[in-house]
Amino acid sequence: MRPYRICLLPGDGIGPEVVEAAVEVLQALPLSLEFLQAEIGFGAYQRLGTPLPESTLEAIRQTDATLFGAVTTPPNLPGYFSPVVQMRQRLDLYANLRPIRSLPHPSSRPGIDFLIVRENTEGLYSGIERLEENGQRAITERVITRRGSERILRKGFELARQSGRKTLHVVHKANVLRQTCGLFRQVALEIATQYPEIELREMLVDTCAMELIRAPQQFEGIVTTNLFGDILSDEACMLVGGLGVAASANIGDGIGVFEPVHGSAPTLAGSGKANPTATLLATVMMLEYLGENECAQHLRRAIETCLASGQVTPDLGGDLTTSQMTRAVKRLL
Ligand code: NAI
Ligand code: MG
Repeated sequence: MRPYRICLLPGDGIGPEVVEAAVEVLQALPLSLEFLQAEIGFGAYQRLGTPLPESTLEAIRQTDATLFGAVTTPPNLPGYFSPVVQMRQRLDLYANLRPIRSLPHPSSRPGIDFLIVRENTEGLYSGIERLEENGQRAITERVITRRGSERILRKGFELARQSGRKTLHVVHKANVLRQTCGLFRQVALEIATQYPEIELREMLVDTCAMELIRAPQQFEGIVTTNLFGDILSDEACMLVGGLGVAASANIGDGIGVFEPVHGSAPTLAGSGKANPTATLLATVMMLEYLGENECAQHLRRAIETCLASGQVTPDLGGDLTTSQMTRAVKRLL
C-alpha cells in the first residue's frame, strides 16, 4: 500500500513544538507515512508576504490529511487576516468537530463525553465588516445560509447516529437573532424529522454556557453556529483539563485538517512548557479519519495512561517538558 501523505503546518509560537511531538509519536506507530511541510501564519507573512500562501492550500488539497499547530494573529496590523479562518473558508472545511471527553487526570471532571459540531465557514466570521460614520460605527454582518445550516446540522445528526447517541442539542439565540438563528433553527427542525431515533433538544446559547458548567453530563452532542461554537468549545474544554488537552478537526468534502484548539501561546514558545496532549489527541482524530482505528485507539490509550501516571506538563501540575511528555507517551506505545 502507498504511504499516507501528511501535510504538516507547524505555524508560529508553540505550533512547531507540538507538531514535532505529533510527528515523533506518529513515527513510532506501525504506519507508512510521508510528510510534507508547508507555511502558515505570521512567520510566513514575514518571510513570504502572506500568512497563507497558495502553495499551502495546494499542499493541503494534495495530501491525505493535514496536521496544523497554531498561528499568531496580530490584532492591529492593517490588512492582515487570520489565515485559520481564511483556510477554513477557502477549503470549505465546513465542520469543526471538538470532542469533549473526560480524561484520567484530576484536572478533568468525570462522566463527560460529548461532541461539539461547530459551523466553520459563515455566521459572524463571514468576514464582511465595515466602518461607517468616520469610524464611529462598526458593522459585522452575520451570514447564515440554508445550505450552510443544512450541511452542518446533517453532519451533527449523522455523527450522533453513527455513535449511537440519543440526543442532540441545537444551540441558538433565535429569540433575539430572529432571522439568522431563526433560519438555523428552522432547518434543524426539518432535518431532525429524518433522524427520528435522535431527540433534538433546543437550547439558547446563554443557557448552554451555564448548563455546561452546571451539569455537563447531560450533553451527548451540540451543534451550533460559528461564533457560538468557538466560545462554547473553549469553555467546555475547561471541564476536562483545559486548552492543553483540547483537540479538533476541520472537515470538508475529502479534506481533513486536525489541530489543537489552543493558539500559539507566545509566552510559552521555546520554554518547553507546551502541553503536547491537545495535538496528540488531534492526531488520534486524524488516524480515525484515515481509517486507522487500531493505531488511533492504541495512541489514545498511551496518552491516557501517560496522563493517569502524572507524567505531565506544568499546565496540568506536572514538571515534564514537551519533549519529555512526548517521550513518555512514546514509551507507552
Ligand atoms: P492561546 O491558546 O495561545 O493561550 C491561552 C492560554 O492557554 C495561555 O495562558 C497559554 O499559555 C495557555 N496554553 C495554550 N496552549 C497551551 C498548551 N499547549 N500547553 C499549555 N498551556 C497552553 O490563546 P491566546 O493567548 O489568546 O492567543 C495567542 C495567539 O494565538 C494569538 O495571536 C491568537 O490570535 C492566536 N490563536 C491562534 C489559534 C489557532 O492558530 N488556531 C487559536 C487561538 C488563538
Ligand atoms: Mg477559539
